[in-house]
Amino acid sequence: MLCLGIETSCDDTGVALVDGRRLLANRAASQADLHAVFGGVVPEIASREHYRLLAPLYQACLADAGVSPSDVDVVSVARGPGLLGSLLTGVSFAKGLALGTGARLVGVDHLYAHVLAAALETEIPYPAVAVLISGGHTNLYIMRSELELELVGRTLDDAAGEAFDKAAKALNLPYPGGAVMDRLAAYGQVDTAMFPRPYLDNQNLDFSFSGLKTAFALHIAAREGLATERLVEATELQSEEGARRVLGESFQEIADICASYGWSIADTLRIKTSRALERMGERPQAIILAGGVASNTTVRRLLKEEANARGLAFIAPSPMLCTDNAAMVAYAGSRLAEAGLCHDLTLEAVPRGRKVPRDYVACA
Ligand code: KG4
Ligand code: ZN
Repeated sequence: MLCLGIETSCDDTGVALVDGRRLLANRAASQADLHAVFGGVVPEIASREHYRLLAPLYQACLADAGVSPSDVDVVSVARGPGLLGSLLTGVSFAKGLALGTGARLVGVDHLYAHVLAAALETEIPYPAVAVLISGGHTNLYIMRSELELELVGRTLDDAAGEAFDKAAKALNLPYPGGAVMDRLAAYGQVDTAMFPRPYLDNQNLDFSFSGLKTAFALHIAAREGLATERLVEATELQSEEGARRVLGESFQEIADICASYGWSIADTLRIKTSRALERMGERPQAIILAGGVASNTTVRRLLKEEANARGLAFIAPSPMLCTDNAAMVAYAGSRLAEAGLCHDLTLEAVPRGRKVPRDYVACA
């Protein structure tokens, strides 16, 4: 089943083609540089960019895979949650394609697509605990099959990615800050006492990163002159030499802060994941990571250690499939269509904060 995926929920425009687990084409255009000057995503700019980029990316995908529009069986689109204007560009484009080519239409929950991303590369043993850590979400799921996802924990305030991005901003490091802090952490030493592991003193599976954010702000406020006076650009931090030059005398201290802050987030994720595993009732088989923060070195290391200690499979997508991408949307859509779950042209986009409904119709 040839399935086209479209991703426009935030600031990455993506189009991909899959056939079962075979990824035939995967085109993406990041808008990160455009938004970096504003320190965050500007929704209006994001929508216009998606609108401009979708058609050329679609054509490039068809050419990469050597197929024509009428070969596509299913058009799958991330319908939310996300920025509404951005989602509408993708959903409208998908509807136009489905209408014009006769392909089936499937609206995919962006979060479900993230969680399934690793399945494109590996056979996942179930049941499993999936940890979805992105810029907008920090969710724990129990997964009993590719189609059965139960949300058992979530963040009550900031998402893990947001916690990274806000800390990076306070240090005048470029947006999005997670990957930058990860890179700088490699030059630093972890001090486990520097920052708290937030919201563990309870029995639940939820997260709250606001306490950590405050602890970070207080730590930085007490260290005058630590952050550079101007916003550092991502290109300046690409090598250790470059980072040393631009961060000057603060280099080592910032690296240690990045290492310690990343450890606090990663160990918090590990502890709540281990609680979810213990509460499952049946014997878990795997820990699955998903979302942009799943490419974080320390998060991967600590969760892999947890999986190894419990004799479970550790499944994390390659970095390209962690951040927003259309391959995961194409794969999730093909699984839904195979299960007979599709949409008609009344498919609606769902903004952030609203639950994505299971309003499928039987595939024609
Ligand atoms: O899943 P994603 O691409 O988009 C959303 O749906 O939010 O995740 C983006 C988030 C950003 O907050 C970014 O800073 C974070 O993922 N991120 C990282 C790393 N790479 C991306 N955070 C920590 N370490 C990384 N290596
Ligand atoms: Zn995402």
